[in-house]
Amino acid sequence: MIFRQLFDSASSTYSYLLASRRGGEALIIDPVLEKVDRYLKLMQELDLRLVKAIDTHLHADHITGLGALRDHTHCITVMGEQSKVDVVSMRVCDGDRVTIEGLSLDALYTPGHTDDSFCFVHRDRVFTGDTLLIRGTGRTDFQNGDARMQYESLQRLLRLPEETLVFPAHDYKGDTVSTIGEEKQYNPRLRTRNADEYAELMASLHLPNPKMMDVAIPANVHQGLHQEEVARRGWSYSAQDAKDLIGRPEIALIDLREKSERERHGIIPGSLHAPYGELMDNIGKGGLIHELAKSGKTIVFYCAFGERSAMAVQAAQDNGVTSSRHIEGGMAAWLKTSGEFR
Ligand SMILES: [Fe+2]
Repeated sequence: MIFRQLFDSASSTYSYLLASRRGGEALIIDPVLEKVDRYLKLMQELDLRLVKAIDTHLHADHITGLGALRDHTHCITVMGEQSKVDVVSMRVCDGDRVTIEGLSLDALYTPGHTDDSFCFVHRDRVFTGDTLLIRGTGRTDFQNGDARMQYESLQRLLRLPEETLVFPAHDYKGDTVSTIGEEKQYNPRLRTRNADEYAELMASLHLPNPKMMDVAIPANVHQGLHQEEVARRGWSYSAQDAKDLIGRPEIALIDLREKSERERHGIIPGSLHAPYGELMDNIGKGGLIHELAKSGKTIVFYCAFGERSAMAVQAAQDNGVTSSRHIEGGMAAWLKTSGEFR
């Protein structure tokens, strides 16, 4: 496995690059905007293709690299379903798996630092975001933080095997890694006996707001790909207009989401499944989508929120599939117009 812990000294943030092999797919956790060029260079040097970028939560102390990485690599951006970020390509729930070629992460919903905080477990290690830090824990006094909830989230992490490696999103002292067993024994915040005691401890901290907070939070909330550009070129259908496409023989509806998203949120009737990760094969000569278009079909992509499908339209157009379109706002918009909220 390729595993890199990358540091941003301005915000003391750790970002993590993972891949199963050289020349394969990669994912990154908690990237920092200012370091995007560095990540891109490293991935080029290691011959990696970024397919997913995850933020463990909405950060207050740095601007996320999610949007910039998406723009450079067309990767899928991932956050928790509770996140208030305007558009990410994929939202995960507790128990979901985030997979790339050769490796998968288990998502644990761990609210407390924020209400959208997730941790991700990969084999012998856990990426704890700002939930569990080395000899510390993330603050709970803003962004819908809740010390009692965090106490419960921490208990959940402490049930992982003691030898599990702990990789946090920050460290201000220069520590890079710990273990669950070590934190159990030496983390002063974990010495509290119950949620009330923990909440009392957290309330007594009186921390100043992060320097970047007023800039970072608004910037991080707006990470969505601008689907207007795709619409301006006439390549979009609104969810409402897309209703009329169902059952029409000249239309091929293509679902770009992953299996778990289809199972949770349902599908548009009659659509074909061709996951975003296989897009380039499918739109190339001899690929399923390329051939469908050649046979006279109009290709209509959709995904969860319209982000993957907007990127797919552009890529398909670039590959000569001039009939490609997408459904703006994706399945979320579709369900809204159907009066279904899930
Ligand atoms: Fe944070």
